[in-house]
Amino acid sequence: MAANWKMNKLVREAKDYMAKLLPRVDDTEGEVDVAVFAPFTCLHAVARMTDDKPVLAGAQNLYFEDSGAYTGEVSAPMISDLGAGAVIVGHSERREIFGETDETVARKAARALDAGLLPIVCVGETKEERDAGDMWDKVSGQVRAVMEEIDSPRGHQVVFAYEPIWAIGTGDTASPEDAQDAIGRIRGLLKELAGEEFAGAVRILYGGSIKPNNAAQIMAQEDVDGGLVGGASLDADSFFELVEAARGEVARG
Ligand code: PGA
Repeated sequence: MAANWKMNKLVREAKDYMAKLLPRVDDTEGEVDVAVFAPFTCLHAVARMTDDKPVLAGAQNLYFEDSGAYTGEVSAPMISDLGAGAVIVGHSERREIFGETDETVARKAARALDAGLLPIVCVGETKEERDAGDMWDKVSGQVRAVMEEIDSPRGHQVVFAYEPIWAIGTGDTASPEDAQDAIGRIRGLLKELAGEEFAGAVRILYGGSIKPNNAAQIMAQEDVDGGLVGGASLDADSFFELVEAARGEVARG
């Protein structure tokens, strides 16, 4: 279960949140993997607090060069240097607001992987694309672009997140069936592109208006391995409810 704070929280707030969350997730270790994707400004504080805890600290973006004249950008080695172990790549807000393309997203994913960071690669369609019947064209193209760029990865080194853009921050979540349909197809495509072992090991999350009252149903879907959560992750209590929902599903098998 992954919290994406987006552009929220000052350092003090981030520390208070982690101080609330960490003691609770201690006994979910081995059952649910928990990650917190913090803004760069509080990532160091978050990463330090998670040092000896079963929580992965991550960044929300990176640049694909390691250093150089790229004003305002942050590289994979810089993220590792903060003690973080993961990074979100190609979130739809990055693609839509900041003009990231399938190509830049693929390069970022490859760079993250090479640098030993776990990339969470986001894919998903707009409402117009879904209504026009183009959902799979869009999503499969995004997945293919990334898989073409990364060299013989192992499944456990990459995470995909299917996040239909119309469901992000709208309260309009995908039905459990639609989430399963898209994620099942992504897994099928990954099997075709990278083999059965990869497709079996890769984790694919759903994201888009996950809340404590709908999480269990979505997590119960066969191919859904977890959630990437924005709004409902901003409060430590609510995020922990989602961790518990995922844990309940793990227990049910
Ligand atoms: P949301 O965001 O949970 O607020 O819809 C999800 C995301 O953008 O990752």
